[in-house]
Amino acid sequence: MPIAIPKGVFDILPLDDDAKEPWRAVHLWQHLESSVREVAHLYNLREIRTPIFERTELFSRGVGSTSDIVSKEMYTFEDRAKRSMSLRPEGTASVVRAYLENRLEQQNQTHKLFYMGPMFRYERQQKGRYRQHHQFGVEIIGSEAAEYDAELIDLLWTLLSRLGLKDLTLHLNSLGDTTARLNFREALKTYLKPHLGELSDESQTRYELNPLRILDSKNMGDQEILKGAPNILDFLGEECLRHFEQVKKLLTTLGIPYTLNTRLVRGLDYYNRTVFEITSDQLGAQNSLGGGGRYDELFSMLEGPALPALGFGSGMERIIQTMIGQQIALPTRPHPHLLLVPLGDQARGTCVALAKELRGASINAEVDFSGKKLGKILGATDATHVAIIGEEELKGGSCEVKNMAERTTRQIPFEGLKDV
Ligand code: HAM
Repeated sequence: MPIAIPKGVFDILPLDDDAKEPWRAVHLWQHLESSVREVAHLYNLREIRTPIFERTELFSRGVGSTSDIVSKEMYTFEDRAKRSMSLRPEGTASVVRAYLENRLEQQNQTHKLFYMGPMFRYERQQKGRYRQHHQFGVEIIGSEAAEYDAELIDLLWTLLSRLGLKDLTLHLNSLGDTTARLNFREALKTYLKPHLGELSDESQTRYELNPLRILDSKNMGDQEILKGAPNILDFLGEECLRHFEQVKKLLTTLGIPYTLNTRLVRGLDYYNRTVFEITSDQLGAQNSLGGGGRYDELFSMLEGPALPALGFGSGMERIIQTMIGQQIALPTRPHPHLLLVPLGDQARGTCVALAKELRGASINAEVDFSGKKLGKILGATDATHVAIIGEEELKGGSCEVKNMAERTTRQIPFEGLKDV
């Protein structure tokens, strides 16, 4: 038996347009990646590339040791010198580490960064949830201004809209500052205490460790109990409220509709103030196309200067799957512009040389060395043009070129092939 791929991961392949799992077709990934780069350029973001593994401590301190991601889902291993390392489950902690380690704060400006790459979480596999997934992420570091919160959300909204996605919902909430969260945590615990026995097992475990996460439990019974729960927005201080009001106002100015979702707390522990998620119904249970928010305290938690920051991560598999689900016109896989078909040994050598010349002139050229019958080659090719080169053509220095879509044929000298 050949060795199989591990559970929860997948190959991205040069697939045909009618493939069974078209979201794994590399040309769709390239399309998404170039759209990300275009939008990143429009918003003046600069790329950052961090390693895919880090010291485990970075994530336990950064993301939070009680979060599911750190407590249950990390790929952690000892390296040969017995240091604990983990494959990155997300990008933010690494960006903060890189920022501090490379002293980018000395440049004394607001940094707007983006990344694309694989993240690793040991999760139960289901549609839209993988053990290696890919994120496009943005981090804006060095400003408390609410305008950046709006710009960040606008950026993700714009990317998804430019890709053609429809029927998206922006969920918006504010978690306030540490005091607000602590007070809310206590109020929530007091409210839930009499119902503790009725909560799902998972929420019961979260009650002591991370009670805010109970709010986004998908369990119906939990949701019923939560109906009368306190509202985090009632715990926000004046400044946080003002900041949140400003974010909402700017979103309205930008024409981005939002839904207030006071249950949105997000699964990572570093957030404060604005948090958001953009969802699509197309995806079923794993419906978040991207999410993030402010993390003004993470820099100090990682022993850096107190730098305000905000960001989001967006799942690239889910974006492509939603585009396919919504039947958005997608680019087709690339085709050769000109296929040269040599008939006979001598012509093969000439075709090799002609192909090199064409490629030198930036033409996508391919040679068919299969030796199959011409009819078969013509029936199977996806090239836009086909040139057939046999003994006669070698003597005359010109050949017939078929335009496959128009079903027309022209006689063209070899030196004219680059203009086909
Ligand atoms: P997150 O919500 O854990 O946030 O992940 C961001 C996005 O990655 C999700 O909305 C989803 O689209 C995608 N995603 C997450 N896990 C999986 C998975 N197992 N399979 C497929 N897609 C997945 C973060 O990671 C934060 N670092 C975002 C952030 C950046 N906050 C501030 N800055």
